[in-house]
Amino acid sequence: MFSGRGSNTETGSRLCAALWFLLSALVSLGVCLRGSAQIDPLLYEEQLLWVSGGPGEVSTYRIPVLTFTPKGSLLAFTEARKGSSSDIGAKFIAMRRSTDKGNTWSPTSFIVDDGSMMDGLNLGSVLVDEEVGSVILIYSLCFHLYQCSPASTMMVESMDDGLSWSPPRNLSVQLGVKNFAPGPGFGIQKKYNPAKGRLVVCGHGTLEGDGVFCILSDDHGHNWYNGAALKSIPYNQKKKAQDFNPDECQPVEMPDGSIIINVRNQNNYHCRCRVVVRSRDGGMSLPIDDLFFDYELVDPAVAAGALQKEGVLYFTNPSNEQHRINLTLRWSLTNGTSWENKAVQIWAGPSGYSSMTSLDSGSAEDRKFIFVIYEKGHKEYIETISFAKMHLYGGR
Ligand SMILES: *[C@@H]1O[C@H](CO)[C@@H](O)[C@H](O)[C@H]1NC(C)=O
Ligand SMILES: *[C@@H]1O[C@H](CO)[C@@H](O)[C@H](O)[C@H]1NC(C)=O
Ligand SMILES: *[C@@H]1O[C@H](CO)[C@@H](O)[C@H](O)[C@H]1NC(C)=O
Repeated sequence: MFSGRGSNTETGSRLCAALWFLLSALVSLGVCLRGSAQIDPLLYEEQLLWVSGGPGEVSTYRIPVLTFTPKGSLLAFTEARKGSSSDIGAKFIAMRRSTDKGNTWSPTSFIVDDGSMMDGLNLGSVLVDEEVGSVILIYSLCFHLYQCSPASTMMVESMDDGLSWSPPRNLSVQLGVKNFAPGPGFGIQKKYNPAKGRLVVCGHGTLEGDGVFCILSDDHGHNWYNGAALKSIPYNQKKKAQDFNPDECQPVEMPDGSIIINVRNQNNYHCRCRVVVRSRDGGMSLPIDDLFFDYELVDPAVAAGALQKEGVLYFTNPSNEQHRINLTLRWSLTNGTSWENKAVQIWAGPSGYSSMTSLDSGSAEDRKFIFVIYEKGHKEYIETISFAKMHLYGGR
């Protein structure tokens, strides 16, 4: 009896131990997966930051870019095109600032004004130097060489969280004269080696001399020099349909310190999809060996958004081979080698350029969200600039 009960108790406690083991295994599996596998983004809040065609000096708002700041604010920028919706023409750089994670925004301030230039400014890349606490905005002037010459690469900088901005500085003095259209999107400061601390801004050239080019600074933006080039083919010759013509691009740093650049495939070379190229030397080179066409990321040839947060790579574009419609968020748990099947449609209708950012304080709140800014409309994608707050865990 006693031994029987004893052995029953023993069997019971073994069972208990086994159950306990299974339970804790399940719990730890759950904890393990929480970081990435449970990502289930939800469009949490959305508001229009700019509406084209209103009263005032601006005809059309286009080319939105977004950044976090060292103090945890958000800054949204866009071209405010004065006379028409054309890429060419005089513009302001418009900015709005949020100090409450995108819930409310300051009124628009115009931080750069190109006057009445026939071929004015074009945005642009924004980047944050977290080591010195600066926000840097790089844009071009006279990019299309329309009734002006030469093109210039310009920079303004804020040391006070985006409240005030330095006068424009002409980076072409250091870089040499070249048509360079940064981004549009964000530049990066390398967080990991190689070249930790380096500022990397990538963009594209124009016409015959198109391709992806990166400019670099190893001293917080005082001195800039030319880094990697991925040239179009044929280089320095007029392009035909289906030529290799890498264009507007978004670099992101991966946790292994490499830089993945997601590129607009301007002439639909090989596919109607994105070109992806990788730099393993801090933006000094973009070898062809590290280039591929991402067939899953179908694209109508547009500037798209990319972002790496906690090892997950995010991508936004109007996901359609022909038209700028269907603004979609996708995510990759495999460093961009594959994409999760479940994608989130942010806007079914006309939608164009997009850009992303996130706050990375490590707080529970900041881990939950990424932010998307994009061109959105009902009839045409150039009607408004919209800010979307995406909850990464389905609102949970
Ligand atoms: C910028 O510098 C370059 C090279 O010195 C010069 O050719 C160009 O005119 C300058 N641009 C502006 C807007 O001052
Ligand atoms: C929108 O994008 C999704 C994801 O790529 C795709 O499955 C769907 O066919 C697209 N819809 C349209 C109308 O392009
Ligand atoms: C993604 O890259 C990181 C950093 O190099 C690596 O640890 C991880 O194994 C990679 N994940 C996949 C699925 O390749």
